[in-house]
Order: sequence, then structure tokens, then C-alpha cells
Amino acid sequence: MIVRSVNLETVCGVTSVLPKNEKPEIAFAGKSNVGKSSLINALMNRKSYARTSAQPGKTQTINFYNISEEIYFVDLPGYGYAKVSLEAKAKWGKLIEKYLRSSDQLKAVFLLIDIRHEPSENDRHMYDWILNQGYDPIIIATKADKLKRSQLQKHVKMIKTGLNVVPGTVVIPFSSLSKQGKDEIMAIIDQILAG
Ligand code: GTP
Ligand code: MG
Repeated sequence: MIVRSVNLETVCGVTSVLPKNEKPEIAFAGKSNVGKSSLINALMNRKSYARTSAQPGKTQTINFYNISEEIYFVDLPGYGYAKVSLEAKAKWGKLIEKYLRSSDQLKAVFLLIDIRHEPSENDRHMYDWILNQGYDPIIIATKADKLKRSQLQKHVKMIKTGLNVVPGTVVIPFSSLSKQGKDEIMAIIDQILAG
């Protein structure tokens, strides 16, 4: 896939009606601050088109990026952000669930996990939930630049074990700084587009 244009086409909050898009969608899920918006920027070859922040809870809406009128990248709000009220958390959770359940065009879900840490309870729930919706989550182990290269495979294993992944699950170390892993992710997206 060649990124010829990017356009933040639709932004959905908790009360919004979700769009009925005509092109395939790929969603990016993961806890707050794990690097979803940064990954989307890297895939779009943009520095900061998707807003990122060192403060967790930056993306609070579902953002649909139209890529070259060919595919949508769907940036989901992060879960597990401690500073929002239980009520707000429940609303975001419902919004994410509603999207993942109701989209007619969703072809794949990438689940992002910080490569440094054991998956959390929330990560496990999200993984199981995506699986139960009929998708094989593709795991992106983010912030790979924070580890020595020699440590990567050990941490990939830790994530696989922690999520109790189904056999054959792909875990791709990725860094938005070095762009390590980007080509592999683009190749997977091409496969998805090829159907
Ligand atoms: P929410 O929108 O709050 O859910 O967060 P997010 O998952 O979209 O994370 P975002 O892309 O905003 O990144 C959060 C922070 O992590 C920012 O300070 C980024 O610069 C940093 N970050 C993201 N990816 C990487 C990475 O690969 N390596 C390093 N070192 N930092 C990263
Ligand atoms: Mg974000």
C-alpha cells in the first residue's frame, strides 16, 4: 500500500453515530499511552497528524483516518487510563465495544502492548474479547527502542505467555522512533487488503 493521502475524516465521541464506511477498516487498540497514535503516524508517514501526548488519555474519541481513499486506520481511545472517572471509562469501553461489534468493514484489529511490561488484566480482557468477536488480534509490541536488541525475543515470549495467545499469533516488535517493524506491519496490511 502506498500512502498518497491521509485525512482525518470522522471523529466519534460516546454519543456519536458510527460511520458506515465503504472501504475496509483496520483498528488499533491498546491501553492508554501504549503508542497507538504514534504507530498510526508512522504508518501514514506523518510526524504528528494523529495527536499524541506523553500524558495518557490523549485520544478520547474514535478517529477514522482515510488513507488514499483505499482503507481506514481507526485510532481507538486507550483503556485503563486511571485518571478518568469510572463512568467515563465505562462509556469509552461501551463505545469501543460498539464499534468492534458493529462495523461491517472492520477487517483486522491490531492490539498494542508495551514491550517492556507483562500484559495487564485489561490487556488480557481486550485480547480475549477481540478473539471472541471473531478476529485474530495481531499483536504489536511497542516502544521496542526501550530494550536492547538481545532482550526483544524474551519480551515477545513474555507477551505471548501473558496473553495466552492462540497458536500462530504474530507479535511484532515496533518502534515509532526507529520505525523497526513498520515494513512487517505494512506487509500484513497489504495481505489484509488483498483479502
Ligand atoms: P492514548 O491516545 O492516550 O490512548 O495514547 P496512545 O496509545 O495513542 O499513545 P501515543 O501515541 O500518544 O504515545 C504516548 C507516548 O509514548 C508519547 O509520549 C509518545 O512519544 C511515546 N511513544 C509512542 N511510541 C513510542 C515508541 O515506539 N518509542 C518510544 N520511546 N516512545 C514512544
Ligand atoms: Mg492516542
